[in-house]
Amino acid sequence: MEEGKLMKREVNPPRVIENKCIGCEQCVAVCPSFVLEMADEKPKVLRGEWCIGCGHCGAVCPSEAILQTGMNFEIHPRKGEAPATSPEVLDLLIRERRSVRNYTADPVPEQILKKILDAGRYGPTGTNSQNVHYVVLTSPDQIEKLRKMTIRFYEKLFSRARGWFGSLFLSLVAGKKTVEYLHESLPKMMVARKAMNRGQDRLFYHAPVVIIAHAESWDTSSSFNCSVALYNCSLMAHTLGLGCCFNGFLVNAVNHSRKIKRWLSIPADHRCCSAMGLGYPNMKYPRLVPRHLPKVKWR
Ligand SMILES: Cc1cc2nc3c(=O)[nH]c(=O)nc-3n(C[C@H](O)[C@H](O)[C@H](O)COP(=O)(O)O)c2cc1C
Repeated sequence: MEEGKLMKREVNPPRVIENKCIGCEQCVAVCPSFVLEMADEKPKVLRGEWCIGCGHCGAVCPSEAILQTGMNFEIHPRKGEAPATSPEVLDLLIRERRSVRNYTADPVPEQILKKILDAGRYGPTGTNSQNVHYVVLTSPDQIEKLRKMTIRFYEKLFSRARGWFGSLFLSLVAGKKTVEYLHESLPKMMVARKAMNRGQDRLFYHAPVVIIAHAESWDTSSSFNCSVALYNCSLMAHTLGLGCCFNGFLVNAVNHSRKIKRWLSIPADHRCCSAMGLGYPNMKYPRLVPRHLPKVKWR
């Protein structure tokens, strides 16, 4: 596919209502795509076809002089004067969010799931592509099927990594470090398998919901877009009394097993970029955890 075609999106450019415009130029300054330029002291839409639909021009306009078809510029409750929360509250929210690996069997109501997914919509995406797609599994049978397929994938991978030929093949396709990591992980996998045989779900931890985020493989922002979206979802889930655990094992399996990807109906030209289990925690964390200081080179 040509690059130009890949970038094409259905975006309605902004329109300037001249008699409302006060000529403050703020819309021109915030536009990342050179859509607007000043002429005769008013902004003019010069390159509408370059608009990425970010809505910044309409959001910044103090006189509601920018309209954009299909976009509703809601009034900010504090008119953009103050952030919605304090640094102290945000700090605690970030620090108290924990991976949850123990869930109650309670299903998550659909409207709660929708509220959680809604939080994902407001994360940043490269060129405002908003390209995050989700697969949401809520049926215990479907989750069990996915669990079995993922475990089967890893059983095959580890049995391959054990033999010299398989090791060589894997180090050629995935790199030496990956094979070393697989070898080091083998004992852990054996313990996990024993726990699974005893009925413990060491992959999804019996989460009643599994969410998978996927996006176009060609887009270098896809991984960031999906991860930020699911992180936003995880924060919203936390404030609603739910917990999540990101799942790198599932991401890897989906991207390396055509069978799993197809079963999830993820298009062939998409990549799974992030995934998590979700549910009501069956535990509490009465303490916060310590973390390393940032690794920074100040220059
Ligand atoms: C990209 C990513 C992949 C992860 N994959 C798994 C996983 O497959 N299984 C798991 O139990 N936890 C997984 N986790 C959770 C991490 O182990 C966890 O975030 C980390 O230990 C820090 O704990 P916290 O989330 O409570 O801060 C993953 C986290 C991230 C960010």
